[in-house]
Amino acid sequence: MLNTLKVLESEVLAGIPALKSEQEVYDFRNSVVGKNGSLTGVLKGIKDLSAEDKQTVGKVSNELRDRLSAAFDARLAAIADERVEERLKTEFVDVTVPTGETASGHLHPITRALLEVEDAFKRMGFEVLESKEVTTEYLNFDAVNVPSSHPARDMQDTFWLEGKGNVLSTQTSSMQNVILKSKTPPIRVIIPGRVFRNEDIDATHENTFYQVEGIVVDKGISMANLKYAIRTMLSDLFGREVSIRLRPGYFPFVEPGVEVDFSCPFCGGEGCRICKKSGWIEFMGAGLIHPNVLREGGLDPAEYSGFAFGFGLNRLVMIKYGITDMRHFQNADVRFLSQF
Ligand code: PHE
Repeated sequence: MLNTLKVLESEVLAGIPALKSEQEVYDFRNSVVGKNGSLTGVLKGIKDLSAEDKQTVGKVSNELRDRLSAAFDARLAAIADERVEERLKTEFVDVTVPTGETASGHLHPITRALLEVEDAFKRMGFEVLESKEVTTEYLNFDAVNVPSSHPARDMQDTFWLEGKGNVLSTQTSSMQNVILKSKTPPIRVIIPGRVFRNEDIDATHENTFYQVEGIVVDKGISMANLKYAIRTMLSDLFGREVSIRLRPGYFPFVEPGVEVDFSCPFCGGEGCRICKKSGWIEFMGAGLIHPNVLREGGLDPAEYSGFAFGFGLNRLVMIKYGITDMRHFQNADVRFLSQF
């Protein structure tokens, strides 16, 4: 029997290196040590041996089983290694190679337009200052000649804050007095800022939006300077010469006050869908700074004059890109944002 075992071992050991897959190893191992395996068959004969032989053969067969089991395990490990080698050869990826795709974010359309607006004004020698989102009733209203009876001060239009006379800026004009007091003419600044109004929200109204205020003060400033500055900025922004039209308009902080329109940059003034066939686009309020406002800012209206304007940046971006609903700007929907 010992001889049979020896022959069996050498046969099995000789067969193992030829096994190509784990399944082949399992099948072969089963054919040796499984229920009906060749080794199992031989070992069944042990029970018929003498007590002495039982001991010897039992010991030998246990050792044999251990050796075979080690040989099968070694083959399984080798097959796993070969597979890894194979995958490394065929599936190697150089993770340092640039993919050409960058999933980085980008500027919001409002920010982008603001940077363009700022550039245009900077080229004309303007300084860019930031407005305050939280301001006072004095700066937002009194200092810019808005009478205490003015409806804009109502609960409905203004977000009043707790504490004495604090409000969320309803207009960047709340910076006029700050600028006049802190600078000496010649003054040439734009003040972009976020403003807040207690509005019902719809496609063209938001409770939170962006304005750009402009203030120029020097000796002999006139409406012609205003027209030039605005025409230059808009022509820059749309990449095409536009013309400016002034209509009378009322704002307490300017005198005379005007509504500024510009010729439609899409049809050149002929009339199209964007300008609603009129050839003109309504743009903003402006005018020559009211003497009361200059005085409140510490400047003598007999010596200095200036103009001020304020436009809504949201509206400008809507015109520029043909956006029809103002609510898109605030709701952070990537399907909207990824278009810019
Ligand atoms: N502050 C005005 C508004 O919010 C705009 C404006 C600014 C008008 C400066 C005239 C001069 O409507």
